[in-house]
Formats: sequence, structure tokens, C-alpha cells
Amino acid sequence: MSKGPVLVLGARSDIGLAVAHAFAAKGHPIQLALRNASTFEANRMDMVIRYNVAVSIHEFDVLAIDKHAAFIDTLPALPAVAVCAIGLMGDQIENERDMSAASLVMRSNYEGPATILGLLGNRFDEYGEGTIVGISSVAGERGRATNYVYGSAKAGFTAFLSGLRNRLAKRGVHVVTVLPGFVLTRMTKEMALPERLTAQPAEVADAIVRAVAKKTDVIYVRPIWGLIMRIIKAIPERSFKGMKI
Ligand SMILES: NC(=O)c1ccc[n+]([C@@H]2O[C@H](COP(=O)([O-])OP(=O)(O)OC[C@H]3O[C@@H](n4cnc5c(N)ncnc54)[C@H](OP(=O)(O)O)[C@@H]3O)[C@@H](O)[C@H]2O)c1
Repeated sequence: MSKGPVLVLGARSDIGLAVAHAFAAKGHPIQLALRNASTFEANRMDMVIRYNVAVSIHEFDVLAIDKHAAFIDTLPALPAVAVCAIGLMGDQIENERDMSAASLVMRSNYEGPATILGLLGNRFDEYGEGTIVGISSVAGERGRATNYVYGSAKAGFTAFLSGLRNRLAKRGVHVVTVLPGFVLTRMTKEMALPERLTAQPAEVADAIVRAVAKKTDVIYVRPIWGLIMRIIKAIPERSFKGMKI
């Protein structure tokens, strides 16, 4: 893999920061994009000192769609790899009652990530190379009563990434879809997660670095999640309705 710049959208996320460290450790210059970017200087310096690579920070709100093109123009260089780690779980019960809360979850997990990666895809298409990594979720593989607002947005994002990959495959641009199961992060800190099914952010990051190098299309991070989701998807809807899952 050439040592081109790696853009991490949502760099404050536990997974996003781990991804930035993993690519920086391999010698890639890093572009960290996040909200309230000015508060991230210590993280930037830490990465520069540890890995001796160029690291820049950029203000970025995934919901500000009309500013996405200008955002790409402010980057020091067109990235070789763009990773989107942005997401918002929200609260399912609140999302059932308050449609603006539901809309925020839908836009943060689908509309915003899809539009910025779509624009980057167009730039990579013109340039003739590049890799896009979208972090979606197993939650998008089947609508569950307890998490379907978040899950449906992730389903849309997964379908978008699949279409983008198939559109750009002939153009030298690769798209990796990441479907993690449980990961121990700020997003899941209130949940009791089964240890054997729960990855650490660094594990997700290493799996992404490998998938980019090998041009893998879809990864579950822990392969057991591929099996779990095959079983969950095979349950007939009639039975699924009665399950607490
Ligand atoms: N943890 C899991 O078990 C798990 C499982 C499957 C998939 N995922 C996905 O993995 C990705 C990373 O999540 P994580 O677990 O590392 O959780 P996290 O630490 O909560 O990261 C989510 C990040 O999204 C950012 N974000 C939300 N809205 C944004 C906006 N409008 N503009 C810019 N950034 C915004 C947040 O920014 P702020 O820091 O500014 O709030 C935060 O840094 C997400 O896509 C998540 O859905 C996580």
C-alpha cells in the first residue's frame, strides 16, 4: 500500500481515533475531521510525536451537507483513503415518540455519511484511485424492535456503500463496508456487552487496515458476527415478531 494521506471523518470517535493511530503507525499522513476540532490539538501532537507523520485537523459536521464540497477543498491533499466513523445511536424509545430525534439519528447515520462519501467517491473517480471505508453496523442487517431507527439508517448506509462500490469498481476506486458487531466505545459504555462478542476499537482499526490493503469488500471485524447475522436473517418474520431481540 502506498503511504498516501488517510482522512478520518469522526476522528473523536473511539473507533475513528484508533483507525487514525493504526494508519499513522504505518507511516500515512493523517487528516482528522471532527466537530469542535480546535479542542483536538493534544491528540494531533501526540500522533505527530509517536509516529513522525504529518497530522492535520479539520472542522467537520456531517449534517452540514452544503459545506461538504468546500470541506474537501480545504484538505491539504486529496486523501488516498477516506474512513467514515461517524454515527449516532440515539435512544429508540425517544425516537419512537420524537420524530426530530429520529430524524437526527437517520441523518447522522445515513444521509450525512452517504453524501460526504458520495462526493469523495466522485473526486476519487476523477483522480482514478482511492479507497472509501464506511463504518456501518450489523444493526442494518435486520430491523429489530429495540433498535430499528438506528438500524434502518445503517441499512440505508450499507446499501449506499454497496452501490458506490459497484459503480466505482471499474474506475480504480475501492469501497470497504465495515459491519462491526459490539465494540467497546463511548457509544456502548452503558450496555452490558458479552466479552466474547465484543471487539476493542484497536481490533476494528487493524481489521480496517487489512481490508484496505487486501481490497476486501465487506468485513464483520469478528467473523462470528457473520454467522450470527446469517442466523438472525434466516428467522421467519412470523417467529421474529415474538422474539425479544
Ligand atoms: N460501538 C459499537 O458497538 C458499534 C457497533 C457497530 C457500528 N458502530 C459504528 O462505529 C462508528 C464509530 O462509533 P463509536 O462506537 O466509535 O462511537 P462514538 O465514540 O460515539 O463515535 C461516534 C462519533 O460520531 C461523531 N458524530 C456524530 N454526529 C456527528 C456530526 N453531525 N458531525 C460530525 N461527527 C459526528 C461523534 O462526534 P462527537 O465526538 O463530536 O460527539 C463521535 O465522535 C459509528 O458509525 C457507529 O455507528 C459502532
